[in-house]
Amino acid sequence: MDKFVIQGGARLVGEVTASGAKNAALPILAATLLSAAPQRLLGVPNVRDVVTMRHLLTEIGALITGDVVGDIVQVKQIVRCEAPYEEVKTMRAAILVLGPLLARCGEAHVSLPGGCAIGARPVGLHLAALQRMGAEITLEHGTIHAKARRLTGAVIDFEQVTVTGTQNVMMAATLAQGTTVIRNAAREPEGVDLANFLIGCGAKITGAGSSEIEIEGVPSLGGASHTIIPDRIEAATFAIAGAITGGDLLVRDVLPDQMQGVLDLLRSLGFQIDVESNAIRVRAGRTRRSGNFSTAPYPGVPTDVQPQMMALLSQMPGLSTLRETIFDGRFSQVPELVRMGADIGIEGDHAKITGATPLSGAKVMASDLRAGAALVVAGLAAEGETEIARVYHIDRGYASLEGKLASVGAHIRRVAA
Ligand code: EPU
Repeated sequence: MDKFVIQGGARLVGEVTASGAKNAALPILAATLLSAAPQRLLGVPNVRDVVTMRHLLTEIGALITGDVVGDIVQVKQIVRCEAPYEEVKTMRAAILVLGPLLARCGEAHVSLPGGCAIGARPVGLHLAALQRMGAEITLEHGTIHAKARRLTGAVIDFEQVTVTGTQNVMMAATLAQGTTVIRNAAREPEGVDLANFLIGCGAKITGAGSSEIEIEGVPSLGGASHTIIPDRIEAATFAIAGAITGGDLLVRDVLPDQMQGVLDLLRSLGFQIDVESNAIRVRAGRTRRSGNFSTAPYPGVPTDVQPQMMALLSQMPGLSTLRETIFDGRFSQVPELVRMGADIGIEGDHAKITGATPLSGAKVMASDLRAGAALVVAGLAAEGETEIARVYHIDRGYASLEGKLASVGAHIRRVAA
């Protein structure tokens, strides 16, 4: 189990480039199961969750070849319509193969994702939606068994916004008989990227990016060549890292329009943000101010940025507050940040952060992907050495975080344990 060792205090200065979005690559890789034709995917990020998804697809029957430019994925035939426990337990997003498998082969057996470091995260909304489309679903021995000769279009009115739930239904509906309407759909850009990929394959989808999406089923899908959108969460993590070190950082290959919530929040804290067509520059402003925010579905401040932002707020003078509205208990970074010197109190879904208290390097442990990223952010600003254990959580979603940060002046290295 690798560790990161960080010597805090270095300003981040220079340019860093965002990778393709993990949360777009995962559903798009799952969507390749819908067609027998070859698909070319460019900009797939080199992160652990993608490796896991590639492995799962290969077990299901995909042939994946890749070069420096991209992946070529072809699923001529499904050999196993199942996602076993071994895959799902390491990556909850394995649930994304449920819709495509059911649509392509009429059945799917997917292990039910278990408990998770960031709340219970059930998939009941995915299952109820597929049932409305005619699937018969049973749960036995911890596995979801779904069957449908051919799914039929339906109106799916999600009682709660669900990102992967919307994506599962969108994928399943592309091959269903008739038209599906998803109401209260997730509007995240990663879902729009999935829709664009599917449209490239011949799917009939309108409204992606709005809260109502319409999908008219077609008998089969073909092949496409598609470039994954940039990772707005990785880009936001860099922006926050630059800000906390009082640096001057240009983050390239981003779509700033997709980062409005985070950029407005950074501005309100006193940072200077300049936006170019595909880059953002973050610099210290004249003052640092405390701030308040709630996480929200897109276009709000994403829950996936909340832990890193909390680390930054600990270095803002005065009282800051934040509310986590998406996941129960996504505060596992707090005890570790407190050990580093942050003053943070939690009450239910609220956090109160009193700043700025000096951070000092400590031995800490990443407990999930974004909590781990928050510890890296804190370590960059801390006095002395921070040692972060369980870096495998961070590797699930960041492509060489340490290499990219080191390239702009951070003193961070990976140590194989
Ligand atoms: N929910 C239900 N029932 C369901 C589905 C969701 O109650 O059937 C609840 C969840 O428990 C949660 C809320 O609805 O309280 C939102 O969950 P959602 O389904 O939107 O989350 P997800 O699809 O499982 C994706 C991302 C997460 C990101 C969330 C929220 C992918 C692969 N994962 O998860 O990304 O936090 O949306 O934006 O896209 C990450 O990258 O670190 C990460 C966790």
